[in-house]
Amino acid sequence: MSLPRFSITPLSRKHQKSGFCSDSELLDRYFSERAGQDVKRNLAKCFVAIDCSNEKIAGFYTLSAAQIPLLQLPEKLAGKMPHYHAVQALRLGWLAIDKSCQGHGLGSTLIADALKRSSRSSITVYAMLVDAKDENALKFYLHHGFIPCKGAPQTLFLPLDTVRKL
Ligand SMILES: CC(C)(COP(=O)(O)OP(=O)(O)OC[C@H]1O[C@@H](n2cnc3c(N)ncnc32)[C@H](O)[C@@H]1OP(=O)(O)O)[C@@H](O)C(=O)NCCC(=O)NCCS
Repeated sequence: MSLPRFSITPLSRKHQKSGFCSDSELLDRYFSERAGQDVKRNLAKCFVAIDCSNEKIAGFYTLSAAQIPLLQLPEKLAGKMPHYHAVQALRLGWLAIDKSCQGHGLGSTLIADALKRSSRSSITVYAMLVDAKDENALKFYLHHGFIPCKGAPQTLFLPLDTVRKL
């Protein structure tokens, strides 16, 4: 049996963050300068994909608590909800893959990992929320079935009941 190429684990001080380079300066800067601080201050969890062949960081994502105002859900879904102001969600705030590893399914793998962790959380959340940083990211999330929020099309969500049923 061959070993898996990547392992996904919480970011810790032992990880070497320098050298990580995706296509996005914004995401790279966040990862090198702020991700560790956000973890330390309990503002977000950060998970990294480690390339088992060289121990380098191949990708990362963050998860934090969020809410979706009911007004931003499409009417078909909002109509099924009680009259709460908002529903609970987890935000996949940042997601990036190192250039050398893009196009091999790792982005999808990290989304699946985030969905799995969210659906297993002991606190129930309705959906995973993402913020598309640009058109490319928007297309990527639409490709994975995320639904644009009403009035905020760069913010998308995916109800978790689909994942829980898998
Ligand atoms: C966007 C990004 C995360 C994609 O990661 P990746 O590992 O290259 O993507 P994958 O190989 O997992 O692609 C999985 C699927 O998404 C599709 N896909 C990838 N990028 C896409 C895009 N920009 N638009 C539409 N579909 C896209 C692939 O064709 C593939 O489809 P398939 O499974 O049907 O064959 C990566 O390119 C990246 O880090 N970009 C810079 C940072 C960024 O834009 N982050 C987005 C969140 S803000």
